[in-house]
Amino acid sequence: MSREGDGKLSDKDKLDLLRERREEAKLGGGLKRIERQHSSGKLTARERLDQLLDPGSFSELGMFITPQPTSFGELERKFYGDGVVTGSGLIDGRRVYVFAQDFTVIGGSLGEQHARKICLVMEKAIQTGSPIIGLIDSGGARIQEGLGHYGSIFYRNTLGAGVIPQISVILGPCAGGAVYSPALSDFVFMVEGVSRMHITGPQVIKAVTGEEVTSEELGGAAVHHTRSGVAHFVSKEEKECLDLVRELLSYLPSNNRELPPIRSTEDSIDRMEDELVDIIPDDPKKPYDMKQLIRLVVDDGVFLEIQEGFARNIIIGFARLNGHTIGIIANQPLVFAGCLDINSSDKAARFIRFCDAFGVSIVNFVDCPGYLPGTQQEYGGIIRHGAKMLYAYCETTVPRVTVVTRKIYGGAMSGMSVSKLVGTDLTAVLPSAEIAIMGPEGAANIIFKEEIGKAEDPEAVRAEKVRQYREQFANPYVAAEKGWIDVIIEPREIRPFLITSLERLRGKGERRPEKKHGTIPL
Ligand code: HXC
Repeated sequence: MSREGDGKLSDKDKLDLLRERREEAKLGGGLKRIERQHSSGKLTARERLDQLLDPGSFSELGMFITPQPTSFGELERKFYGDGVVTGSGLIDGRRVYVFAQDFTVIGGSLGEQHARKICLVMEKAIQTGSPIIGLIDSGGARIQEGLGHYGSIFYRNTLGAGVIPQISVILGPCAGGAVYSPALSDFVFMVEGVSRMHITGPQVIKAVTGEEVTSEELGGAAVHHTRSGVAHFVSKEEKECLDLVRELLSYLPSNNRELPPIRSTEDSIDRMEDELVDIIPDDPKKPYDMKQLIRLVVDDGVFLEIQEGFARNIIIGFARLNGHTIGIIANQPLVFAGCLDINSSDKAARFIRFCDAFGVSIVNFVDCPGYLPGTQQEYGGIIRHGAKMLYAYCETTVPRVTVVTRKIYGGAMSGMSVSKLVGTDLTAVLPSAEIAIMGPEGAANIIFKEEIGKAEDPEAVRAEKVRQYREQFANPYVAAEKGWIDVIIEPREIRPFLITSLERLRGKGERRPEKKHGTIPL
């Protein structure tokens, strides 16, 4: 690089310097570390952003920020960007803010400058009403800096909650304090064999409790998808995962002041599905797959399920009806007969609140015998957890429509938002549905205990009482006469019914008592 007589760089040299520095910044921790990243099956931060965003749309911020000098284990050199690539871009032409931690730079560890960069894009996302997406690949708090800087990120996660969609994609280690920004986000994505999330690692666990566990068993994608419920989506590889993030965003508004985007569809609003009659067995105890029913009803059969592997007795996810996003909550008769329990209540409650915060109409498909009985559930606090789901439903002001596909008994009438007393806008029931305070068998056993006990043929008497109860109480006409439900529809009419109902409810407004915030029983 030549200098002019006065020692200053010429304009051309200044441009060359900028280009050189940009190239240097783009190499992050250097070619050797990039090779290591690739050989461990991972993309680099910039490759990930290329995959996530519309081509050429990334606009970077803070490219030349460098780490703070430290007093412990001097960093070998100044890395441009300080281990995180931040900025904004477009997904399907809509603005998003992003940060992608660069594991090739000091293990993507979070120092003060790194945290500042993340906070800046979080703030811009909140101010401009744009989703924030974090791609996490980090050794956690930077050891050389001595103090963690996560608090400023948690604070902004909380400021943004319910204002903009927040998405965390775990694409490497995410340990210690680092786990709580994803945990405060709305959706967590993980990749099999790549993502690891835990508060304390295997060595610490062994030292403290003596328990031996591998990193994958402790915090891999499968564990968080099926056991802890931390991961909402799991993919087999990074590209698939980032495509899934794009798909999720296609259902969501950019912020809580906008309505969800509308996607045009060729699927007719009048489509009647005769197949629905065959899916639901007459025998209330025979299982069937509720997802089959959902796919037959929604636009083009497309349903984006969330937390598919966790609390499988309840199904949650997004779909569209006549192009409009809906949030679906449905019992799954294939698992625990579709009972509500601790985990399913937590899973549904959080989703219901997300839908309400972002103006997504709620559709419930109900086939639920009630709450799962047993000491495990009672000791685990099903009362506390079930209350979250009830609270979440009662709190919603978005349109809320329920279809009872087969049965609903007792407290789950409110718990699954069948009862209009908990603010459900419309409830429809299929003609073969059972709807009552409790199941006919249980009711007959309690009310006619003595008569059945004394009978010559107790089974025959019990069967007769069950039949009578079903006829007199547990049928939709009784519920309709009492005004508990709005309409009785044929299975084939579910799609047109839902589309019309949601159309009639669009723009619904409701005033609630003023408060700082509710006291949801967490
Ligand atoms: C500084 C770090 C680092 C960290 C990794 N590196 N983590 N540097 N601070 N936290 C550096 C390594 O020194 C190494 O540098 C490079 O990143 C790659 O790390 P490796 O160990 O070689 O990679 P790998 O074998 O893949 O192991 C990844 C790892 C491991 C599992 C993440 O690095 C690890 O255990 N790191 C420490 C995790 C941790 O305990 N973090 C603090 C959490 S406490 P070179 O120069 O050799 O390439 C916390 C509290 C916050 O987060 C509290 C807030 C409320």
